[in-house]
Amino acid sequence: MEAIVAVYNDWGIGSDGTQPIVVPEDRRRFAELTRGATVIVGSKTLLDFPDSQPLKGRRNIVMTRKEEGVPGAELVHTPEEAAALCGDGDRVFVIGGATVFMAMFPYLDKIYVTKIDATPRSDAYFPNLDSLPDWRCASSEPFKSEGVDCEFCVYEKIKE
Ligand SMILES: NC(=O)c1ccc[n+]([C@@H]2O[C@H](COP(=O)([O-])OP(=O)(O)OC[C@H]3O[C@@H](n4cnc5c(N)ncnc54)[C@H](OP(=O)(O)O)[C@@H]3O)[C@@H](O)[C@H]2O)c1
Repeated sequence: MEAIVAVYNDWGIGSDGTQPIVVPEDRRRFAELTRGATVIVGSKTLLDFPDSQPLKGRRNIVMTRKEEGVPGAELVHTPEEAAALCGDGDRVFVIGGATVFMAMFPYLDKIYVTKIDATPRSDAYFPNLDSLPDWRCASSEPFKSEGVDCEFCVYEKIKE
């Protein structure tokens, strides 16, 4: 299972339920990678989507402890249930937010990170992969977005 996330310098990923700085290149990469795939998303991040609706052109799995259904999405109540819903051959991306990234972290073996050289105030964070010994940066591609230094990085879990 994979994840995709945009992080600031302190591995912050958002504040007040949204992303304070977004870069269009990251949005494009997100769209390209997740198109046609299954996405696992937390109920709070869903609220930040356009009209709070599941993403079109993807199978949406929403994590929540509540029972109310979300039209166009499948609900799961635990990480195990989310993993069980995904078939072996499916391409599955965990797309946040912070608590869902943490809940699904043990299932991840590849993480697409967009690093944005800025430090806005965050109240939601991703684990700093550079400090975790079982993760390595397998590739990186620097770019500038409207003058801001950014980098596409792909992290892979080191297999024992
Ligand atoms: N930078 C990025 O790439 C990126 C990507 C996505 C999100 N974000 C940011 O992340 C922030 C939101 O993160 P968040 O942690 O507050 O919210 P979240 O992870 O999107 O959603 C949290 C909700 O998911 C459900 N949930 C989480 N863990 C669960 C578990 N183990 N079992 C069952 N349900 C579970 C609960 O839903 P119920 O309350 O319904 O029970 C919980 O309230 C926002 O600022 C958003 O912009 C950033």
